[in-house]
This record gives sequence, structure tokens and C-alpha cells, in this order.
Amino acid sequence: MISGNDIRTKYLAYMKQHGHVILPSAPLIPENDPSTLFTGSGMQPLVPFLMGETHPMGARLSNSQKCFRAEDIEEVGDNRHTTFFEMLGNWSLGDYFKNEQIPWIYRFLIEEIGLDPARFYVSAFIGDEKNNIPRDEESAKLWQQLFKEKNVSSEIADMYTEDEAGKRGMQEGERIFYYNAKKNWWSRVGAPEKMPVGEIGGPDTEMFYDFGIPHDEKYGKFCHPNCDCGRFIEIGNNVFIEYIKSPDGSFTKLPKQNVDFGGGLERITAAANNNADVFTIDLLHHVIKNIEELSGTQYDKYTHAYRVVADHIRGAVFMISEGIYPSNTEQGYFTRRLLRRAVRYADIIGIPQNELKLLAKSVVDTYKDHYTKIAEHESDIIDVIHDEEVQFRKTLDNGLKEFNKIAIRLTVPVIREGNTIIKDSKKSVSQEKFITGEHAFNLFTTYGFPIELTVEIAKERGMTVALDEFNICMEKHRERSRAGSEQKFKGGLADNSEKVVMYHTATHLLLAGLRNELGNDVHQAGSNITNERLRFDFTYPEKISPEVLKKVEAYVNTAIQKKAQVIIETISKSEAEKDPSIEGSFWEKYPDIVKVYTIKDDDGIVYSRELCGGPHVDETGSITGTFTITKEESSARGVRRIKAILT
Ligand code: ALA
Repeated sequence: MISGNDIRTKYLAYMKQHGHVILPSAPLIPENDPSTLFTGSGMQPLVPFLMGETHPMGARLSNSQKCFRAEDIEEVGDNRHTTFFEMLGNWSLGDYFKNEQIPWIYRFLIEEIGLDPARFYVSAFIGDEKNNIPRDEESAKLWQQLFKEKNVSSEIADMYTEDEAGKRGMQEGERIFYYNAKKNWWSRVGAPEKMPVGEIGGPDTEMFYDFGIPHDEKYGKFCHPNCDCGRFIEIGNNVFIEYIKSPDGSFTKLPKQNVDFGGGLERITAAANNNADVFTIDLLHHVIKNIEELSGTQYDKYTHAYRVVADHIRGAVFMISEGIYPSNTEQGYFTRRLLRRAVRYADIIGIPQNELKLLAKSVVDTYKDHYTKIAEHESDIIDVIHDEEVQFRKTLDNGLKEFNKIAIRLTVPVIREGNTIIKDSKKSVSQEKFITGEHAFNLFTTYGFPIELTVEIAKERGMTVALDEFNICMEKHRERSRAGSEQKFKGGLADNSEKVVMYHTATHLLLAGLRNELGNDVHQAGSNITNERLRFDFTYPEKISPEVLKKVEAYVNTAIQKKAQVIIETISKSEAEKDPSIEGSFWEKYPDIVKVYTIKDDDGIVYSRELCGGPHVDETGSITGTFTITKEESSARGVRRIKAILT
């Protein structure tokens, strides 16, 4: 058995030998690229350089890139799809081209890794007359020479589309197949027509391994390298990025011809071991073994569920190691989805409740030599997985009960068009079980069911979710929270009434008191003030003891008793940022000239000095009542929340 860890090492050493500089993996969240949520291929971080910028490390680069493909979450469960994977990559930035790339990668796979040349097949670009892009005969010829060297057949065939290929099948001796742009053109968005102006891409030549699994006619009458039946698995793609889409829609050559190779490490390892199931290779198998131990069941029996749990835990471990914590928005939403889905599948397998965290260790152990960051964050990773499982379980039962209730209630005659339910219509009536958009929305907001989870459970029970309606509810919700964040921008004040202003000044004293007791890593994370109470969120990792809370209360009340002055200064933001005595969060939201509010008594003691937009009382003596903390609790990970009143 050759391991994925060994193949990664061998590949990087091989590319180094061929003059490449080995780059570290870029993070899973692309830097300076808001166009996608996750890094989904090795070339993404290199786009500016593929477009012509000079890379500081040279023109030959290589790495193993961490990738996450969120769109594959639901695909996980077969023998080859995973959400997280590593892509081995090498790039020529206008340096070498087809003549080097094709023999290098072939020799690496056949001679270094030991793939069987008789099971190795390739595809190439058939050409696109409309866009004036020629057929890639150069690649086909290069492959032919290499195959001849190894004494395997090397006939070339035209396949055009996947459909046509399924009807035609493969003839004796054929090993090189031309397909159209849908299959053999690569850009970040796919085929040439899909590319926006300014996007780069080019023809590619892909490599497939024949695992010898019998063809399934469900996927077409005959099998061929791009058939999805599972017999052939794509193990790598050589893209010749040499075109850019011009404003007139035509394709022009880039100033330099680039190579972008990407190959899935797991799939290459599976091929090297002649086992199409990527979950049997070291990179995933340790987790699979661990699941067997924890549950006392066998991978053979619950294969699908095992794969989901193993994939999702691995993905979540990598996400969390980069600080992508479970949340309801953006990237964190996917960490949440992974973990919540893993919980459900863990239950199918019979993994004891709240033990998912134990699986994290096998992921960390498998990867820690190459990805040192994940070992450094091990305890954090375990905590986050545990917290998310516990939190989800708290609501899971109630959510499922709610689910059953609403589904039954909706067994009424309805008419639907697509996903939209049309009620009170005189058209034909059908008896179907639905989850309305509103109910799905409620399951999301109240029970923490990501919409995909609701859809999945519905599907298991033969029901449909009204997704259009759900999306309308979500959009309304987003509008409301947008309005909410504008409100927050005003400083979180309900209004400018006298009481609210008092609470606002007390909030400054509270933050200063907390920093005084807990240190300068405490910063404001949110604030919401009404004329009845203040609510203040701040950064701190753990629960605050009652003794400390008493001291903070005393700090605020002393400042009130001392009748301290509230002094306003107007200074430049850059000056304020440099002054360590001034506390401020959200600096980026402030204009160039800022206001600093200092609360200082007659003896010259400064209680608080903070950046703010006001309004505040002139003097703390006008704050009526005693400051009392009524609640201290967790608000989000690493954030605590205090509620306090003036009585
Ligand atoms: N960028 C190419 C891919 O992702 C190599 O397939």
C-alpha cells in the first residue's frame, strides 16, 4: 500500500527536481478574491500570475493545495467524491509547455508511482470552430508517443459530447479521446461561453484510470473515459491556460502560454493502490477505522454513512484549523453544515452521542506532519466540534418533532408549480406532503436546521420543501438584518433619550472596567442599548467570575460617584490609532477625523478613553441609579455578553 502522504512527498520532490519552487498551500478562504467562498483548485491563488504578473518565486511553481468544494456536499457517499481534498499542482508561468508537461506527468504517474499504463487513458480538446480555437493535436501526438514507448495501444477517437460517447462506446485499441469544450476546456467557470470578459482559460488534456468496475448502463449504453458509472476515474488535468476572453467576446492569446496541472491526491493514491474507493487510502482510512472502533460496526455495512462522516469530519477539522467556525453565514455556514450532517449520519451508524470530537484526532494525526497548523489547533478543533454537536443535539429532537408536526398538518390538497405551492386554485388538485417555506425558515432560525438538512429529511420521507417560498423568507430576513446592522452602525442606541444616553456612557465605563480587570485583549464586539438596560458583547474566551463582575460594577459606580467630566476631543484617525490609551473597535468604520471621549475626574484619574460618535452625558454625576450587572453569558465563540441596569 502506497500512502497519500508518500505520494504528496514524492510528487513535490519530483517537481523540485524539474526546477519548480514548492509553495505552501494557500488558505481555504481565498485571499483577495471575493468571487468565491473557498479555494476550489490549486490555480486560484495564482490567477494574477497566470494573467501575466511576475511571481516572486519564479516561473515554475508547484504545491499541494487544500481545496474545498461546497457544491459536492450532497455527492459525498460514493467511492470518489469528497468535499475537502488536496490538489497536487504544478504551473508554468510562460515557461515550459505541452512538450514538457505531458511526458513529465506521465512518467511521474507510471514510473514513480507505478500506475499500470494499460489502465491509463486520456482525453483532449476537439476544437471549437465558432470561437476559432483549434483541435489540440499536439497533446494527442505527445500521448501517442508515450503510449508506444510502453507498448500499449494508442488509437485516437473523436467523441464530441458525453452523450454521443455513450452511444458510440470505445473501440478496440482506443486510448486517446477528443471531447468538446464541455469536457476538455477549463476555466474557473467552465466552458468558453460561460467565461466573462477578462477570464482566462484554455484547452485541457485529462488523465483517467480504469478501475475495471463493470459498466452500469444507467449512465449510457456504453462506457468511455468521461462516463460517470465509476469504472474510469479522472486523476488529473493538464490545462493549457493560453486564452483570455476579450471584450468583443473573442478569445485572444495571453502574452504567455501557461501550464496549470491539477490532480486529486486522493484519487491518484486510489489509482496507485488499484482500489477505486478513496476512503480506503490512509488519508481517510484512519477515520473510517476510528468510526468502526467507536461504533462497534463495520464500514461494509454502513458504507454510505461512514463516508459522509469521515469526509465531513475531515473537512470540518481543516476549516476549524483555519478559524472558520460554525456559524449561520458565509464560510462558517459550511462548517456548520458539515458537522450537523455528520451528527445525523453518526446516529445512523450508532456512534455514541457527543463523541464526534474523538474522530478529529485521527484526522489531525494523519495530516500533522505536512499541515503543522492543524496540530497546533488540535484542542480548539476538538472543542468546536464538541460544542457544535452538543448545541445541535439540544435542538435536533425538538426540530424533528416540529418537522413531524408540520408535515402532517400539511397533508392537504395543494397545487404546485415547480417548487411553488399555489393554493385555492381550481386547477387539478394533488395530495402531497409539503414543508412550506415559512416552516422551513422556522426550522432554520429556531431549530438550527440548515435548509439543506430540511430538504434531506423531507426527501427521506418522500416530501417536498417549498424552496421558492423559503428563499423569499430568507431574503426578507436578510433585509431585516441589513436594517439591523445600519442601526448598529449608529452605535447600537435605540434613540437619543436621556436614559439611553446615560446607559451609553455607562457602557463606556463598563468596557473600561472590564479591561481594567481582564486585560487589554477585551474589546467591544457589539452593543445594544434601550432606555431600560444595556447589553454589551465583548471579546473574552471564558466565563467571568462573580467576584470579577462585582469589581467591574464597583469601577463603574465609583466613576459615577466621582462626578467625572466627559471630555470630547476631535483628532485624526491615524493619530488616534497610534495612541494606546484610546480604546476602539471597528476602526475601519470611522471617518478620517474621529471623536475621542475621555471620562476623567477632578483628581485627574481617567476612567475611560474611547473612540465614539456619541452622544454622552456631560458629567457622570447626571447618571441616575446604581450600576448593576444582571447577567453574564456566552454570546458567540470567544465573545461574552453582559446585561446591566441602572436602578
Ligand atoms: N485547474 C485545473 C482543475 O482544477 C487543473 O482541474
